[in-house]
Amino acid sequence: MNAPNTATLEYDALANLIDAVETADDAMAKATRSTMLTPRFYTTDFDAMDKMDVSSVRAEWDAMILEYEGDNNHDHFQRDAAFAEEARVGLASMSPELRQEFLDFLISSCTSEFSGCILYNEIQKRVTNPDIKALMRYMARDESRHAGFINSALKDLGLGIDLGGLKKNKAYTFFKPKYILYATYLSEKIGYARYITIFRQLEKNPDKRFHPIFRWFERWCNDEFRHGESFALLMRAQPHLLSGLNTLWIRFFTLAVYATMYVRDHMRPLMHEAMGLDSSEYDYEVFRITSEIAAQVFPVDLDIDHPVFRAGMTHLLECAVGHANAKARGGLMGLLGQARHALGAAWTFGRLFFLPVKHRPLPDQIRVQPVW
Ligand SMILES: [Fe+2]
Ligand SMILES: [Fe+2]
Repeated sequence: MNAPNTATLEYDALANLIDAVETADDAMAKATRSTMLTPRFYTTDFDAMDKMDVSSVRAEWDAMILEYEGDNNHDHFQRDAAFAEEARVGLASMSPELRQEFLDFLISSCTSEFSGCILYNEIQKRVTNPDIKALMRYMARDESRHAGFINSALKDLGLGIDLGGLKKNKAYTFFKPKYILYATYLSEKIGYARYITIFRQLEKNPDKRFHPIFRWFERWCNDEFRHGESFALLMRAQPHLLSGLNTLWIRFFTLAVYATMYVRDHMRPLMHEAMGLDSSEYDYEVFRITSEIAAQVFPVDLDIDHPVFRAGMTHLLECAVGHANAKARGGLMGLLGQARHALGAAWTFGRLFFLPVKHRPLPDQIRVQPVW
């Protein structure tokens, strides 16, 4: 078996982090589970969302809404004639381990896309403010296409997710609107950075494109970029969200999103290797791009190159692996092991949270272009 090293771990140590998917029920169970590391569904305070006023960013807002109306990706999420054959050849040549990592990627990506779709759609139904309503309707439209496109790749394998059932049965986490803004802004911009980094890598190395879905990522990630722009405008229209004690929340959410992504991506070393990427290098490239973009809205930036930051991320990964292995072991020793690793992760997260950050002034012009 192919056994690459990750940041510090042997491949076999990761075995308990990914639950194998063999049937549609397994796929559904994976999508339904909500843990620290899996995508969640969110709900919020709709009345507070309804009161958000964008008049201070009106010109940039209206230009953005016109782009949504133009819908330049309306014809993008259709498969071409080559798709089915490329997918068949790619899947047939994968090792069982790579196949599991790729399925994990497809299921978690489909769940995140659908999570956005549900949240935006729910907000759009529950508000009357025409600005917020229009934005949420357009974003729900895009996320519905994204989730459907990934789900069609899962359906090819007989592993399609019942999205209606997922909407009904998966747990919902309540976030105040300001937390929704910080978290969705980050997840949209990280989504862009992830997809464009993969697309650029496979553009240079087409022989490493083991599934046709990656050919769709360039135009796809421009949707995510625009969604992120929308949240940037919403936050800049409410400057108190970006100053004072709220900068601590920005640091918290940025760190939480980065740490989750780092651990989750290191669960898929074979997938990154198949694309000619190293999980750690890929993640730091995604953090770098996200951090550059976020200069439009976040006045504080994590120091991702600080040696303590890098060591901390590796330690969080070790804690996640240790926790999963202790859980698999079971019994009293297993429980003790889980507690020890959970404490280790909390301590490390706290240490990273208090690392010095870089401060930067916010630019007058808010919007940026997707040029990466
Ligand atoms: Fe999306
Ligand atoms: Fe999005």
